[in-house]
Amino acid sequence: MRLQTIILAAGQGTRMRSSLPKVLHKIGGKTLLAHVHDLAMQLGDNSVHVIYGHGGKQVLSTVGNLEAEWTEQKQQLGTGHAVMQVADWIATGCTVLILYGDVPLLKLATVKLLIEDAYKNGIGLLTVNLDDPTGYGRIVRNEKGNVIRIVEEKDASPLQREICEVNTGILAVNGQMLKGWLNRLTNLNAQGEYYLTDIIALAVADGVYVETTQPAEQSEVLGINNRVQLAQLERVYQLHQATALMESGITLLDPSRFDLRGEIVTHGQDVEIDVNVVLEGKIKLGNRVKIGPNVLLKDSQIDDDVEIFANSVIEKANISAGSRIGPFARIRPESNIGENAHIGNFVEIKKSNIGKSTKINHLSYIGDAIVGSEVNVGAGTITCNYDGANKHLTIIEDGAFIGSDTQLVAPVTVGKNATIGAGSTITKNAPEGELSLSRSKQATIPGWQRPIKKGD
Ligand code: UD1
Ligand code: CA
Repeated sequence: MRLQTIILAAGQGTRMRSSLPKVLHKIGGKTLLAHVHDLAMQLGDNSVHVIYGHGGKQVLSTVGNLEAEWTEQKQQLGTGHAVMQVADWIATGCTVLILYGDVPLLKLATVKLLIEDAYKNGIGLLTVNLDDPTGYGRIVRNEKGNVIRIVEEKDASPLQREICEVNTGILAVNGQMLKGWLNRLTNLNAQGEYYLTDIIALAVADGVYVETTQPAEQSEVLGINNRVQLAQLERVYQLHQATALMESGITLLDPSRFDLRGEIVTHGQDVEIDVNVVLEGKIKLGNRVKIGPNVLLKDSQIDDDVEIFANSVIEKANISAGSRIGPFARIRPESNIGENAHIGNFVEIKKSNIGKSTKINHLSYIGDAIVGSEVNVGAGTITCNYDGANKHLTIIEDGAFIGSDTQLVAPVTVGKNATIGAGSTITKNAPEGELSLSRSKQATIPGWQRPIKKGD
């Protein structure tokens, strides 16, 4: 049976104390709403409808590209009212899944059970037992143990408030039945809201058996109302990811100090990741890649046997097999580091190709450059790539040797096997195989004395 998913995301989220609508806060670098949307998209033959409200413009401009229909609930008059906004969209032949935009860690397997129940009986309701049920709607059962209604905290009797089985808000329901029940909802309750939860009593009155399911883990149904809960679920999420990566063969020296804000698209065997590594965007890791502590990798491909030492930052770059990067290296976007190259400490590489077995080991800036293979770039070498208006190219051909503290004023080419003397400012092309240098002559002033401080 075809599926329709409604994501409730109109609530304000006052307790976040944020100018950002709640569902745009992030877990693992991805908005809460996108997490919920992703789950919905994993269910086949599904169409998604998002009910948004607070911060509507921001919601649409940030996540409006997600494949869904979008309806604004201008006034938030309750969860039932939210679903009523799309009553005409609900198809009679469908099963409708209700998800919350601020409950990001729900699992596919759990949702599938609900859908099966709805398919069989008309309704599948997700409940959970909490030690402290305060604030939640309580699941009221009869003496046979069958669900008869949900009572909201504010409407509950003292006895009902003792019930520890609560409504998660997540449910699957037959579309045709739901349409009928929505028509019959009223706001005659303590909060003057249209409660979606009232459909349970209506269902029971119509002779529908309400099947309940509980999540495998409580974190699946936890919603986010403040930044403390946001941080807690971030850790749960990261630990799930870390566990999955370890199961797929990656060594994490401490899974509680690992953050993946994106995905490892592919990885080889025996990858080793030290503590406090942050991976963002799409990452590809080859075999035996070793990543040292405090490394940030973003949208990059790291090939076999590469070793990245502590405190390096690599963004939108390809690092070829056998290279050694860092410690304290920065590789900026559009850079390709060749096989077995060495990029050492305090070296910044920007939009450059670095050839095979080339060494740039200390304190250098290489930007807008094409560097050949087996080049040796001495400490403190700078490509002067920017004239204040335009960027210019530096070419260093295979086998060149650049003496320390050289400035290469681009556009400039250093020929194959050329040598540049230390301390040079190179403004003209340096010919292949020759030594070029620009250096003022060293002078000694005989008998010169240091000045003496006056008044002593
Ligand atoms: C609701 C349930 C309660 C359940 C609890 C679980 C109702 C009446 N009560 O409580 O039984 O225990 O969830 O967290 O359904 N929303 C809208 N529009 C609205 C109101 C809410 O889109 O007019 C969205 C919110 O953004 C949120 C979700 O619906 O994602 C739940 O709203 P919230 O106010 O947090 O829950 P309660 O109504 O208090
Ligand atoms: Ca409410």
